[in-house]
Amino acid sequence: MGKLDGKKIVIAGGSGFLGLSMADHFADAGGKVTILSRSRPKGSGRWAHTTWDGRTLGKWAESLDGADAVVNLAGRTVNCVKTPDHQDEILRSRVESTLVLGQAMRAVKSPPPVWVQMSTAHIYGDPPSAVCDEDSVVGMGFAPTIGRAWEAAFHQSKLSSQRGVLMRTSFVIGRNRGAGGGALGTLGLIARLGLGGRVGSGTQGMSWIHEDDINALFADAITNNARSGMYIVSAPYPVSQVEFMSTLRRVIKMPIGLPAFEWMVRIGAPLVLRTDPELALYGRYVVSKRLAAEGFEFKFPTLMTALTDLYRR
Ligand SMILES: NC(=O)c1ccc[n+]([C@@H]2O[C@H](COP(=O)([O-])OP(=O)(O)OC[C@H]3O[C@@H](n4cnc5c(N)ncnc54)[C@H](OP(=O)(O)O)[C@@H]3O)[C@@H](O)[C@H]2O)c1
Repeated sequence: MGKLDGKKIVIAGGSGFLGLSMADHFADAGGKVTILSRSRPKGSGRWAHTTWDGRTLGKWAESLDGADAVVNLAGRTVNCVKTPDHQDEILRSRVESTLVLGQAMRAVKSPPPVWVQMSTAHIYGDPPSAVCDEDSVVGMGFAPTIGRAWEAAFHQSKLSSQRGVLMRTSFVIGRNRGAGGGALGTLGLIARLGLGGRVGSGTQGMSWIHEDDINALFADAITNNARSGMYIVSAPYPVSQVEFMSTLRRVIKMPIGLPAFEWMVRIGAPLVLRTDPELALYGRYVVSKRLAAEGFEFKFPTLMTALTDLYRR
């Protein structure tokens, strides 16, 4: 018997990198998954698909009626140049999708008793060395502003009768199931080209989690009534950028890792990778005090074991 046997789970924003990984994991555990997204997920899988626009109430709301849980991952990628229009989409895609899910919960007869909501560990900002846990104050800047608005929309939308679990998630490392491989795909390519060395100071934190562990945590949030409120979703041993890349190079057996000075990243990231240089130049160290206290056992607590697993398969 799987842990999610027969449970009906709706994954809003489930057509992307994490959604397809989670859908696979939930189906393996016996769950019946419906993905709610604007476009049909690429490829096929053990899920049904319902279309929404992520902002207006529609017939799609019926998919929530009688469901056992909703997981909300919807959000435009932050891996882009932060032009004003991209910033607007990053905010709206998260806040509006969360608010409209709340409206849908109120429109159906039998709304899901559990709501598991994605959030970001970037809400802690970019402290150079402080290790943040669930008791830390949130940070300053664009990402913390988005995180606060996203979480406020969740608190406003969750039914008082629902158990809500909010997941401040760090960088997820996992496989590509047809919707992209997340940032690890890009870092792996950079490392294979011999360019995976120190970026800027190299001391910026890289907090990460293996996809199997985040999937297990989200599944546990669905079934375990003791899980409630906000958690940091990240492996217990975050590393510096230099250590992350040297571990990655060891795993893929690339001896050379040329460094990138800050000015190179500031010019190269928007021009070549069409992304935000600050994603590479800044970072954060986060660790979950609550998961440690509640005894969650990570399958991949260290980066070496996690990367070895992903590159071996
Ligand atoms: N990957 C990570 O390391 C990581 C870490 C922390 C938090 N997160 C968060 O987890 C969520 C999923 O991440 P991911 O890596 O799977 O991202 P992804 O591959 O870019 O998938 C994003 C999902 O959001 C939907 N979406 C995009 N723009 C939307 C919009 N304007 N309105 C409604 N839905 C929209 C997409 O579906 P459609 O475009 O088909 O609607 C897709 O299902 C995101 O919110 C992300 O910020 C990710």
